Amino acid sequence: MAETLRLGFVGLGMAVTRIFTERPGITDLPHIRLTAAADPRRDALARFENEFGAEVYDDVAELVKSPNVDAVYVATPPEMHAEHSLLALEHGKHVIVEKPIALTLDDCERMNRTAERRGLKLLAGHTHSFDPPIRKMREIIRSGELGGLRMVNTWNYNEFMYRPWPSQELVTSRGILFNQAPHQVDIVRLLGGGLVRSVRAMTGAWDGLRPGEGAYTCYLEFEDGVPATLVYNGYGFFDTAELYGWVGEGGYPRDPETNRKMRANLRRVSGDEAALEEQKNQMRYGAGQSGNYPEIWNIWGRGHDVQSRRKHQKFFGLTVASCEKGDMRQSADGILVYGEEGRREVAIENAMAGRQAEVQELYEAVVHHRPVAHDGRWGEATLEVCLAMIRSAEQRREIELSHQVPAWE
Ligand SMILES: NC(=O)c1ccc[n+]([C@@H]2O[C@H](COP(=O)([O-])OP(=O)(O)OC[C@H]3O[C@@H](n4cnc5c(N)ncnc54)[C@H](O)[C@@H]3O)[C@@H](O)[C@H]2O)c1
Repeated sequence: MAETLRLGFVGLGMAVTRIFTERPGITDLPHIRLTAAADPRRDALARFENEFGAEVYDDVAELVKSPNVDAVYVATPPEMHAEHSLLALEHGKHVIVEKPIALTLDDCERMNRTAERRGLKLLAGHTHSFDPPIRKMREIIRSGELGGLRMVNTWNYNEFMYRPWPSQELVTSRGILFNQAPHQVDIVRLLGGGLVRSVRAMTGAWDGLRPGEGAYTCYLEFEDGVPATLVYNGYGFFDTAELYGWVGEGGYPRDPETNRKMRANLRRVSGDEAALEEQKNQMRYGAGQSGNYPEIWNIWGRGHDVQSRRKHQKFFGLTVASCEKGDMRQSADGILVYGEEGRREVAIENAMAGRQAEVQELYEAVVHHRPVAHDGRWGEATLEVCLAMIRSAEQRREIELSHQVPAWE
């Protein structure tokens, strides 16, 4: 294989709009070429063909046969991840799959076994444990500079449940549980070393307008006894970004009125599935007019002005890691370390983040034979925690885990 990784995209939806507008992003990587895409939406295929001069298919089964694709990026809805990843792996393609990597542990097992048997790379594309501040905190924990890790606590309050997701999408993702929880679980597992022993959680479905669970409180313990809590409220009136100088998830400034505006928009269109579908569709790659961003995208604060705004580190809520000799949390541009000598900020510059870091990792693995840190077994272990949260809440008891794997660094 040449020194270039040729990537085919499966599913050109909202996630892909974000992937292609992220700066710096995967299209800034000189050794990555986007050579193909598959999606049933013709507007998306036309735009992809036009933008990248690439092959386009309305059927994934055709894309995976292309000799011009080394790896497939699976960004279809979660219930299709297993089928599309397996199809790609069975045709000898490496895979990056969006979170959650699948919806059942059986599917994860099938995907992992197929990748392992065929000597292919399978990368779990959860983004927020790739965030440089989280990796930096992990590095400090590993260095022993602050003594042993004693606990991890993470909180995220936002308006997730009022984003214009069609109801069926929320049913499939169990609200936040398969959509947002993987990010938090991933962050906490990376900081705590990966091996979760048991999980206790309560989940909440508080708003009859929106199906699925929109909130949870989770307590988990690592094998070495380190405890962690994960708190998420996707029905947020409060917004964790307030504690962070109004920097949002992507690292761009977030409008302090986002929760209110998104809630008001949802109340206006709720019960009208066609309107929800239309709003969601406006955010998909290739929908609407090229280069223009729809109104909902602007309310959500991810519109056309995003790239002109100052970018900080990505932010997925307040995460505090406590060690024997100090606490750490993220700051807008790095991390804050609180120790015996007081508080100091560690700036992080020019570190790759998000999808760019993931695609780079896959490139390094495929072309330079480096191990994939964030692999399918890691993604399976993260899903196991999410499933245990659901079971724990249903059965009101602690759930012990058996598919955990250690963190890689
Ligand atoms: N990590 C993140 O920040 C983030 C953000 C958004 C979405 N995601 C993840 O990305 C995935 C997709 O979410 P989304 O919001 O973009 O969904 P979406 O519905 O906007 O996009 C899905 C795309 O897949 C296409 N599709 C449907 N069936 C297909 C098929 N059989 N073959 C090929 N394409 C098909 C659809 O036409 C659509 O373009 C989900 O797993 C989600 O969790 C991640």
